Amino acid sequence: MNQFATAILAAAACAATPALAEATDPVARGRYLVEVADCNGCHTAGFAESGGAVPEAQRLTGMTVGFSGPWGVSYPANLRLSVAGMSEGEWRVRARAGGLPPMPWPALKAMTDPDLNAIYAYLRALGPAGVAAPQAVAPGAPIPTAHFVFVPQPPTTVASAAATR
Ligand code: HEC
Repeated sequence: MNQFATAILAAAACAATPALAEATDPVARGRYLVEVADCNGCHTAGFAESGGAVPEAQRLTGMTVGFSGPWGVSYPANLRLSVAGMSEGEWRVRARAGGLPPMPWPALKAMTDPDLNAIYAYLRALGPAGVAAPQAVAPGAPIPTAHFVFVPQPPTTVASAAATR
């Protein structure tokens, strides 16, 4: 087989087996995990609302719109800035330490070391961008930003729905 044919076969094998590429390349694996676990849904402004129509270069820079509930108000962190000052080991400790809702902390705790390391590698590859998310607000304190109310609301009737229009 000549070199050209070998290259074509290798390219075809890669295209047919993205799982293999993910297994060997932590950045590709990290990108995959971030997409299937929907980290962008909260950590990328406008991602959920637009069905994911946010360029990759702008993703995971956090949100200035908070989530308010009994815990006060939490803001999805700018993960690209979070990792900028952390080693891989510090990132794993932070990811498993937990914090406020509605961040899916159990999902991070369920991840293996290589999975968390892959997400770290992907975030480092994206590089720092954007500004830090606002500080969390304590329960009952004034809320200085826009926020989603993450509290169950009572059902509405036809009359009350019409009244709110
Ligand atoms: C439902 C919304 C939501 C989703 C989905 C989500 N996060 Fe979060 N995340 C948050 C919020 C809100 C915070 C701030 C929590 C706090 O203040 O304790 C946060 C904080 C974090 C932090 C702490 C960062 C720091 O600098 O302290 C990490 C790490 C993190 N998220 C990683 C992830 C990863 C990885 C995914 C995808 C697997 C993900 N998050 C998905 C809402 C979300």
